[in-house]
Amino acid sequence: MAIDKEGFQFVCALLKREAAIVLDESKEYLVESRLSQLARREGLVDANEICRRIIKGDAVLVSQVVESMTTNETSFFRDQHPFEALQSSILPAILERSGSGREIRIWSAASSSGQEAYSIAMLIKEHFSNAANFKIDIIGTDISTEMVRRAAAGSYSQLEVNRGLPAKYLVKYFRKEGHEWFIKDDIRSMVRFEKLNLASPVGLVEHCDVIFMRNVLIYFDIKTKREILSRVGRALKPNGVFFLGAAETTLYVDDNFERCSMGNASCYRLKTVG
Ligand SMILES: C[S@@+](CC[C@H](N)C(=O)[O-])C[C@H]1O[C@@H](n2cnc3c(N)ncnc32)[C@H](O)[C@@H]1O
Repeated sequence: MAIDKEGFQFVCALLKREAAIVLDESKEYLVESRLSQLARREGLVDANEICRRIIKGDAVLVSQVVESMTTNETSFFRDQHPFEALQSSILPAILERSGSGREIRIWSAASSSGQEAYSIAMLIKEHFSNAANFKIDIIGTDISTEMVRRAAAGSYSQLEVNRGLPAKYLVKYFRKEGHEWFIKDDIRSMVRFEKLNLASPVGLVEHCDVIFMRNVLIYFDIKTKREILSRVGRALKPNGVFFLGAAETTLYVDDNFERCSMGNASCYRLKTVG
C-alpha cells in the first residue's frame, strides 16, 4: 500500500531534523520501500503502521527510521584517484614536513561501513614503511549506529571484498571465517570509528591533515552544506587537504577553499590569506 501523505511528510521532517537529510516529493517511493523493508524486519504491517507509531513518539522506531533512510553505498578504494593522490603526493609531503613521532590525522567523514578508512590504512601499510615513525590516527565517523558497528567489526561479505579491493590486499590484510572476510588486527588497530552527525555543531574531529568527506553533502540543503564546510575549514590543519565526492564541489558554497588537481584527482585546500 502507498505511504500516506501525512506519514511521508512526517518522515521528511524527521530526517531533516535528525540528520539534515533533505527528501523531496520525488523520494516518496524510496521512503515507502525502505519503511516497508523495516516493517517486515520488525513484524509490522507496512510503512503506514511505522508512520503511525513514530508520530505517536516510538523513540526506538524513530532512530530505526533515520537509520533505514541513510544510503550507505560505498566500496574499497572508491573512485581510485583520491587514493592515488594520497599515495603519490599528499602523504609523501606530509611525512616529509613532519617531525618523527608526530601525529598524522586522517578523517573519513560519513565512513559508512568503513571501506574508505580501511583502504587508507592498507595504503599506508603497503607503501609507507616510514609511517611506523609517526602516530597514524585514522578516524571514521558516521551518523548511523549500525554502520559504525559494522565498520568497527571490520567484517565484509564476498561481494563487498570483490568491489575495488586488489586481490593482493585481500590475501595480505584479511582472514576468512566462514563466508565473511575480517580485516586483520594490524590494519584494524590503525582505525577507530565513532558516531557523529555532521550537521551537529558539536563533536568535530580536529587538527586533520586529510579529510575525506565524499558522497554525503549531496543529501543536504545549501545552508547545511555551508555550515559543514565552515566546520571542515576549522577541522583542517593549515596545509590540510580535503576530498569531496566526484559530483560534489565547494564552488558557490564556500569560497574559503581552492580546488587543486593532483594527477587525476581533485581536492581542496584552504585559501591562504593575503
Ligand atoms: C553514500 S554513503 C558514502 C560513504 C563514503 N563516504 C563513500 O563515499 O564511499 C553516505 C553516508 O553518509 C552518512 N550520513 C548521512 N547523513 C549524515 C549526517 N548528517 N552525518 C554523518 N553521516 C551522515 C550515511 O549514514 C552514509 O553512511
